[in-house]
Amino acid sequence: MPQSKNDALPRLRFLTCGSVDDGKSTLIGRLLYESSSVLDDQMDAVANESSKFGTQGDSVDLALLLDGLQAEREQGITIDVAYRYFSTKQRSFIAADAPGHEQYTRNMATAASNSDLAILLVNAKSGLLPQTRRHARIVSLLGVRHCILAVNKMDLVGHDEKTFTQIADEFQTFAKALEFQSINSVPVSALNGDNLFTASQHMPWYKGSSLIDLLETIKIETGQAQAPFRMPVQYVNRPNSEYRGFCGTVASGSVKVGEEIVVLPSAKTTRVKEIAGPSGTVETASSNQAITLLLEDEIDISRGDIIAAVDAPTAVADQIAAHIVWMDEASMLPERPYTIRFHSMSCIAQVTDLVHRIDTNTGKKIASKKLELNEIGYCKLSLDREAAFDSYSENRQTGSFVLIDRYTNATVGAGVIDFALRRASNIHWQETRVDKEQRARMNDQKPCLLWFTGFSGSGKSTIADRLEQRLQSLGRRTYLLDGDNVRHGLNHDLGFTDQDRVENIRRVAEVAKLMVDAGLIVLVSFISPFKAEREMARGLVADDEFHEIFVDTPLEVCEARDIKGLYKKARAGELKNFTGIDSDYEVPENPEILLKGAEEEIDVLVDQVLTKLGIN
Ligand code: ADX
Repeated sequence: MPQSKNDALPRLRFLTCGSVDDGKSTLIGRLLYESSSVLDDQMDAVANESSKFGTQGDSVDLALLLDGLQAEREQGITIDVAYRYFSTKQRSFIAADAPGHEQYTRNMATAASNSDLAILLVNAKSGLLPQTRRHARIVSLLGVRHCILAVNKMDLVGHDEKTFTQIADEFQTFAKALEFQSINSVPVSALNGDNLFTASQHMPWYKGSSLIDLLETIKIETGQAQAPFRMPVQYVNRPNSEYRGFCGTVASGSVKVGEEIVVLPSAKTTRVKEIAGPSGTVETASSNQAITLLLEDEIDISRGDIIAAVDAPTAVADQIAAHIVWMDEASMLPERPYTIRFHSMSCIAQVTDLVHRIDTNTGKKIASKKLELNEIGYCKLSLDREAAFDSYSENRQTGSFVLIDRYTNATVGAGVIDFALRRASNIHWQETRVDKEQRARMNDQKPCLLWFTGFSGSGKSTIADRLEQRLQSLGRRTYLLDGDNVRHGLNHDLGFTDQDRVENIRRVAEVAKLMVDAGLIVLVSFISPFKAEREMARGLVADDEFHEIFVDTPLEVCEARDIKGLYKKARAGELKNFTGIDSDYEVPENPEILLKGAEEEIDVLVDQVLTKLGIN
């Protein structure tokens, strides 16, 4: 353990934001050097840190950006946050150092999510940069309540008071709108050590505290310990029928044997029978401790549930309002399903409404249809099941989440929950007497969804049309939903941007689902270029009802055919976002049926489908 001898000291966790150019490494190097601390191997330190506070290797408050480290590690993302340890007589420090480049927002957000304070570095020569504002905004959003602006390289501006004051004032004005409780500015020279540990000889005009003084004295409230009891269940230990232990790390507050607790989302209540700690049973447990809870009554609890103080339950909802920092090259598209991971549960979520994007520089709210890399948006999300959570302002651990791409498994966004939205209902599911089986029986067939995908001109619609004729002649009841046709009516308001295509497929998939429910054999012929939406469609019907039919006709062949003359227009730049030209097509990896559209006659292809379906 790096600083075990200092464990008794109050601890401050901070992160440093800035780039190489701002002198960040020098500053951190100095802090470590002057406090004569040992520089730990960064990965060792992270591991130590994680095992020290986490349950089963699950991270610190990293559990924040939510199981942060672990989650990201599982997803093969290199987190490039170096944790350094040092201490003075007053405090011990954990400094999280995240690279400053744009593309590293992910790392910065992870570091911010468990820091109490941020040091924002600026180069006195260049002053505030858009990046400084963006960092300030993100750390504020992620709950960092104290901020120190270190105006570095003062030696390069002749230790000029005016230069410093100007930058400090500009920052104060900007940061006033953010949610910091304290904002301090210090003129420093990390290179020479000015105002780091002792007052600078070169800047007698500066009467404020040195950087280390500020770090030692800024009052930090110990939020997680005071917050109501929360323990996300990470594992249910059931070695035999007698024993059921619920394992997890206390995310906040404390719990005592005999205390009444509530389990969420189910809202069942019971009392704590026993608390098992790492070295035997204990009477109480508090924030950051890994424990196993045994309860008085046998109630149904699974991983992802939260055990909470009975008088202060979490929110439970399937709709949330949240701020999201987007961290992926591919844009965040409303209505696209992502995996959402909270504390210890995950499910599927869609951004149903991107309310606005926030200009990180000015704070302006901007109407937007998608979020790009590093952008922050305020969104409404809908989950595919109810979840227990808090708002981030109440609890950083149970109030945050990450969004994960369902196919690449990459962490693509980090979110903080503003509040639970009232459930979409007042709308209940109305049971009806005539069901799908009955309708299918009346039609004397097994309903299914035949999903044709492929480039424009690949032959999907022609094959689907011929197939429908064949099915009709075999007495089957069918309906063909064709992209061009549906775009004349239901989807006439949609164009060909990525986000419009997502919505296009969402709607047709929902319609197709209803038609399958009506007992029909439904043929859908849409380019449907994105895997995420094709999989979403698959998920709407039963496993054996969905058949993805990939009409694999090479782009060159489709372009040579150019039946509608659209490829020509697209090549001439008269048609934007044309699939295969300047808009992506994600090739199906495991379609149920693969048709070589350029190689076979249409009737052969239709026969192939019928054979695969077992219809002839
Ligand atoms: S999808 O990508 O959203 O699934 P959809 O199948 O509904 O597309 O519509 C594709 C049809 O729209 C094409 O067959 C073509 O006739 C026409 N079209 C017009 N503009 C475009 C475009 N930019 N990209 C692809 N198809 C287009």
